[in-house]
Amino acid sequence: MNEMRNQFGMVGLGVMGRNLLLNIADQGFAVSGLDKELIAVSFLQKEAEHRKVFATQSTEDFVKSLATPRSIMILVPAGNPVDMVISELLPFLDEGDIIIDGGNSYFTDTLKRTESLKERGFHFMGVGVSGGEQGARYGPSLMPGGDIKAFQIVEPIFKAIAAKVDGEPCVTHLGPGGAGHYVKMIHNGIEYGVMQLISESYHLLKNGLGLSNEELHQVYDKWNHGKLNSYLIEITSRIFLHPNDKGEGMLVDKILDQAGQKGTGKWTSQNAMDLHVPLSVIDMAVTMRDLSSYKNERVQASKILKGARSTKSTISYDRKEMIDRIEEGLLFSIIVSYAQGMAMLQKASELYLFNFNLQEIARIWRGGCIIRASILEDIRKAFALKADLSNILLDENIAHDMNILQRSLRQVIQMAIQEGIPVAGFMASISYFDAYRSERLPLNLIQAQRDFFGAHTYERIDEKGIFHTHWN
Ligand code: 6PG
Repeated sequence: MNEMRNQFGMVGLGVMGRNLLLNIADQGFAVSGLDKELIAVSFLQKEAEHRKVFATQSTEDFVKSLATPRSIMILVPAGNPVDMVISELLPFLDEGDIIIDGGNSYFTDTLKRTESLKERGFHFMGVGVSGGEQGARYGPSLMPGGDIKAFQIVEPIFKAIAAKVDGEPCVTHLGPGGAGHYVKMIHNGIEYGVMQLISESYHLLKNGLGLSNEELHQVYDKWNHGKLNSYLIEITSRIFLHPNDKGEGMLVDKILDQAGQKGTGKWTSQNAMDLHVPLSVIDMAVTMRDLSSYKNERVQASKILKGARSTKSTISYDRKEMIDRIEEGLLFSIIVSYAQGMAMLQKASELYLFNFNLQEIARIWRGGCIIRASILEDIRKAFALKADLSNILLDENIAHDMNILQRSLRQVIQMAIQEGIPVAGFMASISYFDAYRSERLPLNLIQAQRDFFGAHTYERIDEKGIFHTHWN
């Protein structure tokens, strides 16, 4: 009987679930889809055409259509909806079945679900899926965590559907419990950082140098063919050419300047605080999305708070020269965003016993996902040379490049300050770099203050031990 049943099931036939399921069916697997909404079921049936796809609104029929041990992915919003789907499925499942959460769930929720389902004889896997609608349909980057035995069962399907770079699929087993969702969270944190930095470069090019949309398209397109080559730079260049569908001009200029967020960037920053990992670029990206939402206050403030000068800038910049400096400054800052994210993975690996292989993580991020970028190959090589590298800025090749690029970023920040253009991400990246390369920081003073007002004690540089002084 098993041979006649389908090999993979998907619960939640929204655009991501449907596309992923069609991608699996394209690889020759027979699949089943479940959704409570008739419209989602009909849409999948229509799109399925000749493929081996069964779609239903009935949980029982869905489960019965699958070969055992069943592999069922859930793609619904994080939080309660995941638990609701699990409890609806459980009465129909058999021991040994595998439930896979492909959404952006918080890693500790994944760990809890893994443990409670294990007690009842089921396997649970948390899998980060990146690449948006197109990635899901034609090749995502997959970040699976959980029971290795369960992974081995779904591995052929995951390998078949994942994006390929140099013939290698962008998927690997990342670790136990919530490891996959943890890696996806950091992926999204880096995504937030890079998007914020690109938006700052846009602000400088548009408001500082006066580039038109056509020129902006050309600049980002050129950058995409250089060291900044990446998916996010590519889509940025394309955005500037998209016409306004409701009138004159380009669409980008008609979009409200308030960024939404579903929470993964915030989780990254919150968890970084718990781990005591400095994550300033990503923190700043979350802060700027928050600040963007205060639109009414910003409009009010724009009328009463003054910038560096009251009239329009009279400084004339060498445009070509400045565009090159911004390109290098952006590359520098993007590398810092990756450096902070990778350093957090390294720390979490020890603390949560994930036992991450950072070379493999960099490898599977080279294709399919939103943060895919040429520089990930340099990052992969850095971990290939030293698997326990605590920070990629300590890699000789990366350090060499950063030492050259930092000069440009300092010039870019000077221009931004003069023009009153906010570059919080750029400033966070150079300050992190300057602090990280400081043999001595001024935090001796903080220790003195703590001891002064609270007898919190301090250590000395010239003698071992714990000291306290009666400062008064
Ligand atoms: C991906 C994306 C995806 C989603 C973001 C958006 O890797 O495919 O990261 O997961 O588009 O989570 O996040 P925000 O709504 O928080 O910007």
